[in-house]
Amino acid sequence: MNLPYIVGNWKMNGLRATLAEARAIDRAAARYPKVEMALAPPATLISRMREVVQTIDVGGQDCHVAENGAYTGDISAAMLKDAGAEFAIVGHSERRQSYGESDETVRAKATSALDAGLSVIVCVGETEAQRDAGEALNIVTAQVAASVPQGDDIAPRLSLAYEPVWAIGTGRVPSVDDVEAMHRAIRETLVAAYGKPGKDVRILYGGSVKPDNAAELLSADEVGGALVGGASLTAESFIGIVEAVSPAEAE
Ligand code: PGA
Repeated sequence: MNLPYIVGNWKMNGLRATLAEARAIDRAAARYPKVEMALAPPATLISRMREVVQTIDVGGQDCHVAENGAYTGDISAAMLKDAGAEFAIVGHSERRQSYGESDETVRAKATSALDAGLSVIVCVGETEAQRDAGEALNIVTAQVAASVPQGDDIAPRLSLAYEPVWAIGTGRVPSVDDVEAMHRAIRETLVAAYGKPGKDVRILYGGSVKPDNAAELLSADEVGGALVGGASLTAESFIGIVEAVSPAEAE
C-alpha cells in the first residue's frame, strides 16, 4: 500500500534564501511518517536543497529528451540525477502549453528520466473548453495512454498527476465526484498499459490544492497524493496540506 505522496512544484520561484522553507518542511517531515513528501525546486537549487534536507525527496520540474548535446539552456535527466534529484516531473501543462510539448515528447522525456535512474511524475489534464465540451475523460485518458513510458518494470517508478488546466493557480477545484471519475478512468488506462502493476501507480491530484481543501480532495477514491504549486512555497501551507491528509504523530 502506497503512502500518500505530497509533492511541491516550486515552478520558477525560489532563491537560496527560500531553502529555509525546504529545511522547515524537512524538519517537520519527521512528525509525518505516514506521508511521503517531495519538492521540485528550480534546477538552480536542486543540489543545494539536496544538501540541506534528509527526509524529503528532491526533483526536477522538467528534463530534456537527450542525455547531452547542443541544447542551449536545457538540462538532461542525467544532470538532474547528478545534482542529487530522485525524480523528475514531465509534461506539466505549463510546458505543454508554453513550449508545445506533445504527448510523444512527454513520453520521450519520461523514458529518459527512467533511463537516468530517476522516478518520474507524468502530468496530464484537460482545458476548461475541453471540460465544457464533455471531452475531459477522453482527452485525459488519451494523454495518459500516449504519454506514459512503455516497457516492463516501469510502474513502481511512475506516478501520474491529474491537473485540470483550469484549476492550476486559479483557486478553483473540480468536485470530488469529478476527481474520482477521472482518477478511476486513469487507473483503467494504466492497468491497460501495464497490467497488474498499473494498479499500484500513484495518481496525484493537482490544481489549487490548499490546506483547507486537501482533506476532501485526497480522500477521493484513487487519489494517492497531491502535486502542489503555490501552496508548496512556504512550509506553513505545505505542512498544512500534509497535516490535513494525515495528522502529525506525537514525538
Ligand atoms: P497550483 O499549481 O497548486 O498553484 O494550482 C499546481 C501545479 O501546477 O502543479
